[in-house]
Amino acid sequence: MREKVLEITNRTLEELKTCQDSQALEQLRVRVLGKKGELTSILRGMGQVEPEMRPKVGQWVNEARETIENAISESQKEIAKREKEKRLQAEAIDVTLPVNDRSAGSLHPMTLVLEELFDIFTGMGFEAVEGPEVEFDHYNFELMNIPKNHPARDAQDTFYIDDNIVLRTHTSPVQARIMTTRKPPIRIVSFGRVYRADEADATHSPVFHQLEGLVIDENISMGDLKGTLDTFARRLYGDGVTTRFRPSFFPFTEPSAEVDLTCAACRGKGCRICKDTGWIEVLGSGMVNPKVLEMCGIDSKKYSGFAFGMGVERLANLKYNVPDMRYLYENDIRFLKHFRG
Ligand code: DAH
Repeated sequence: MREKVLEITNRTLEELKTCQDSQALEQLRVRVLGKKGELTSILRGMGQVEPEMRPKVGQWVNEARETIENAISESQKEIAKREKEKRLQAEAIDVTLPVNDRSAGSLHPMTLVLEELFDIFTGMGFEAVEGPEVEFDHYNFELMNIPKNHPARDAQDTFYIDDNIVLRTHTSPVQARIMTTRKPPIRIVSFGRVYRADEADATHSPVFHQLEGLVIDENISMGDLKGTLDTFARRLYGDGVTTRFRPSFFPFTEPSAEVDLTCAACRGKGCRICKDTGWIEVLGSGMVNPKVLEMCGIDSKKYSGFAFGMGVERLANLKYNVPDMRYLYENDIRFLKHFRG
C-alpha cells in the first residue's frame, strides 16, 4: 500500500512539471485528489485494509495529499506568473515606434470664405444675424414688395411647404424680420442657405448660400453703399479690385444696381473667366425701396438705407479659381486637399 501511495505521489509530481496552463493543472488535481480521484479511492477502499493498518494508510494518504496540494499550489503560482508575463508581453506598446500618418483635415473652401466675409463685415461694424431657412411667404416675398402674381416670383421659384410657407429663395427676408422688430440705426449682415427650384449645373444649385447686408439710418446714400462694397471687394480679393455699378431692377430697392467686381484672375485685363470684359458680376444692391421701409414700419421720410445680396459660392469660386459650383458639394478629397492651410 505504501508503495502505491508513493507511486501516485511521484507520478503526480512528475506530471505536474509538464502542466503548461491552469487548465491542465486543474485536470490533474481532479484526477488525483478529486472525489473519484486516485488517492481518494484508496481511502474509499479502506474496508479491505486490515484494521490495524488503517491508521497508517490514512496517514500516508493524508501526507501524500498534502505534498501534492502544496506542489499544485506552487505550480499554480508559477503558471499564473508565466501567464501574466505572457499577457504583458503581448500587450506591450513600443512608444518609440513612429506614429501612423493620420492626415490632418482642413476647412472647406465655403467655410474659409464665410469666415473671411464675417471678419470683413463685422470689421466694418456690421452685426451678423440669422434668419430661418423655412420662411413665411410674407417675409420672403410680400414684405420684399413681391406680391402674389408679381413676375419677379417666376425667377425665384422654390419649394413650398404650404401656400404660406416656403424654403426661402434669398436672404432678403432677414431684412424684413429685422426692420419689423428693430428701430434704426440698423447695420446687419446675414449669411445662410437659400433654395431655388433649379437643376444643378456649373453655376446653379437648388441649395446655395447668400450673404445679405442692410443699413438703415438717417442720411444714408448710394455713396455709403459704394464705399462699403468697394472696401469689401478690396479686403476679399486684394488691392486693385474695385466695383462697377450697372442700373438694374429689384422690387425691394429703388434705385437698384447690379454690381461687378474687377476680375480677380486677370486684374481687369480680360481673360477666359471674365469673358474678356475685365469684370465679374457678383451681387445685387440698391437703396431700400421706401415702400418696403413703410411696410416694415419704418418712417421713410426720416430714414433711408441700402441693401445688398450676393451668392457666396460664386465669391468662393472666384477666389479659388474653381470653375464649377458642384466641386463645392461633392466632398471629393482630391479637391478639398487643395485648401489645406
Ligand atoms: N435677393 C436678391 C436675389 O436673391 C439679391 C439682392 C439684390 C439682395 C438687391 C439685396 C438687394 O439686398 O438690395 O437675387
